[in-house]
Amino acid sequence: MNHPAMQGLTLNTPSHVKNAKLMAWVADMAALCKPDAIYWCDGSDAEYQRLCQQLVDVGTFKKLSPTKRPNSYLACSDPTDVARVEDRTYICSAKKEDAGPTNNWTDPVEMRATLQPLFDGCMQGRTMYVVPFSMGPLGSPIAHVGIELSDSPYVAVNMKIMTRMGKAVYDVLGVEGEFVPCVHTVGAPLAAGQQDVTWPCNKTKYIVHYPETREIWSYGSGYGGNALLGKKCFALRIASNMGRAASEGPSGNPGWLAEHMLILGVTTPQGKKYHVAAAFPSACGKTNFAMLIPPAGFDGWKVTTIGDDIAWIKPAADGKLYAINPEAGYFGVAPGTNTLTNPNCMASIERDTIFTNVALTDDGDVWWEGMGDAPAHAIDWQGKDWTPAIAKETGAKAAHPNARFTVAAINNPALDDAWDDPKGVAIDAFIFGGRRSTTVPLVTEARNWVEGVYMAATMGSETTAAATGQAGVVRRDPFAMLPFTGYNMSDYFQHWLDMGEKLAKTGATLPKIYTTNWFRKGDDGKFVWPGYGENMRVLKWMIDRIEGAGQGTDNVMGVTPGFKDLTWTGLPFTAQQFDTVTSIDKAAWTQELKLHTELFEQLAHHLPKALTDTKAAIEKRLAA
Ligand code: GTP
Ligand code: SPV
Ligand code: MN
Repeated sequence: MNHPAMQGLTLNTPSHVKNAKLMAWVADMAALCKPDAIYWCDGSDAEYQRLCQQLVDVGTFKKLSPTKRPNSYLACSDPTDVARVEDRTYICSAKKEDAGPTNNWTDPVEMRATLQPLFDGCMQGRTMYVVPFSMGPLGSPIAHVGIELSDSPYVAVNMKIMTRMGKAVYDVLGVEGEFVPCVHTVGAPLAAGQQDVTWPCNKTKYIVHYPETREIWSYGSGYGGNALLGKKCFALRIASNMGRAASEGPSGNPGWLAEHMLILGVTTPQGKKYHVAAAFPSACGKTNFAMLIPPAGFDGWKVTTIGDDIAWIKPAADGKLYAINPEAGYFGVAPGTNTLTNPNCMASIERDTIFTNVALTDDGDVWWEGMGDAPAHAIDWQGKDWTPAIAKETGAKAAHPNARFTVAAINNPALDDAWDDPKGVAIDAFIFGGRRSTTVPLVTEARNWVEGVYMAATMGSETTAAATGQAGVVRRDPFAMLPFTGYNMSDYFQHWLDMGEKLAKTGATLPKIYTTNWFRKGDDGKFVWPGYGENMRVLKWMIDRIEGAGQGTDNVMGVTPGFKDLTWTGLPFTAQQFDTVTSIDKAAWTQELKLHTELFEQLAHHLPKALTDTKAAIEKRLAA
């Protein structure tokens, strides 16, 4: 089947593709985007190798040393295309109030009119890759299928690592199966004979979601969450809509949750296993926590990774919440990662890895700030000579602060046996953790579900290099989902509250809810809490609490441990240092609550009363 407007371009639909809607959509998109050719990805290793070689041939990839970094590549992006663009990200629901005040909104009719001329001919001179992928184990009742059409072979090879990508998806899809259509273009058509650049992109960018029709349209960027549409666009913004929509109507179905959370398993020396899902904002420690190695003194404790960025969480008949990782790989932050802070991560990326925006060393390996001893010379992420002397003089970074690696989950030595179990794992605790130099204590346990939802909803965090814009500014980042909730934030709070209420009715024990802050600084501007593997001490306290043994003190908000309540074996950390990371300053919290008030004023429409009530109770305790 070919579209009348396709002008000689053949669809070349493989015989195993039988979904009529898919074929019609690909034809429509080809007619609009006008690529020179269409290539249907099969997801095979041979195809991956072929596409990587093609990327090497055009200069997008550099092949790294086969001895230092086997089967690995380095890509360096255009310096204007280095992170998610939150100000160019849109939730185009029919009604503005359904996107809510935290999302950019444009009327869908208007947005379609804006995008139409941009997409018209946008793939000229390029190949359109048809990338079939499953978020979640193929055929799992929790999984969903997406098809990304992209003119970027860099996207195709990254999607191979990040998702279950390939031919088998068409078997799941069958003749009539549903898929989320994702269209992506770098927005850089090539005229006949025009020489391509190594990282095509466009200074105009649009990352657009239509929640009602569950479509994703992405224009102008080739980087990360802007372009790998299975990740933030589908698995968070569209999926959060799906999860909530499932709870609507008279069926009593509680729906499900799509969250910016790592999932880990923690096994105690007694052999008991618990599962924890933790939401930290972008570049605030999820990958690190998910791969944690318990420090000295924690013999017999083991942490295993189920996921490092996204969790899809559904209640089951037993009243428990089961979580799966919809992804199959990690797109993780490189800077700051080393063999001391995250040995499992360093082992994961020893081979089979795509690096983006790190530095290239003279022996064909990679380097970034915080990896360890600096090389005497390297080529920085912008292709310039870099030496420690140049860095000292100009401040030039060898790697971009949002430089990343793409690697398959199966490379992770700490991978949990159940990481791709279609059932998921039962969650015992949720953690919400911001990056705060001041005010917020190391760890707090919510006294109940509503207080936990309040703590997550009002979480603040300093911005990072994961999104364009100024880094280091404190902003409210409810549930670490500010850039990812695909609908009205107050409705999202309500969905969490409803979920708790429905689970409680089954008589099941709800997961406990905690907040953490690994990032309090001392007067010298340095982190006081050692972090990384030492976060195990906080995790152990949580497990102690779940088991009914851990001690804590009631506070203005929640329950917090004293110095004696944490295990300090093997770490010289003083009671005074502990006080620096746990003290609750009344004046600072009075200020903080003003920021909660501001947030609640912004979110007043549909804001659950339970949250304003909780705030009033906290204010009363604070004033007492
Ligand atoms: P996204 O992939 O952007 O969602 O980020 P993430 O939450 O997975 O962040 P990641 O674990 O990659 O950490 C980002 C940065 O925070 C890295 O530079 C880490 O070295 C640093 N980091 C992680 N954990 C800790 C910690 O416990 N303490 C301190 N001080 N820094 C940490
Ligand atoms: C984040 O920014 O939270 C990420 C990286 O995980 S990206 O895929 O670019 O969104
Ligand atoms: Mn993330």
